[in-house]
Amino acid sequence: MIRTTNPTVACLLALMLAGCSDVNDFKPTVGMTATDIFADACSSCHGDGGSGKFGFLLKVAGTETAAEEVVAKIRHGGRIMPAFPNIDEEDAVRITSYLKTQ
Ligand code: HEC
Repeated sequence: MIRTTNPTVACLLALMLAGCSDVNDFKPTVGMTATDIFADACSSCHGDGGSGKFGFLLKVAGTETAAEEVVAKIRHGGRIMPAFPNIDEEDAVRITSYLKTQ
């Protein structure tokens, strides 16, 4: 008989359905520029200045995604990308303009 209550399987299923996104508690300190925030909070996944990792993967520099969507992505996360609830709207807008001019 196939056991359907296997905890590992249940856990994997839950992860797949809920997405793997998490919350990142990074909080910018007063006076940080968008460049600093990006370097500290984002470049580990998106590369220096958003240039991507391993070539083009996760490149966000010069993104053509609408500004509101980028701001929402930062504040609420994506399917994989963590949410940054401590980056306020104003900083998210500044990071977005920074990315668009990269
Ligand atoms: C843990 C890794 C990780 C971190 C840290 C991270 N991201 Fe992401 N980001 C991703 C992944 C993976 C995707 C694509 C899949 C998704 O949306 O979850 C993504 C997608 C994006 C997109 C959408 C792509 C596009 O061109 O529209 C933007 C914009 C973005 N990230 C900006 C940021 C910013 C700004 C930060 C820092 C505040 C950040 N990310 C931090 C992993 C990360």
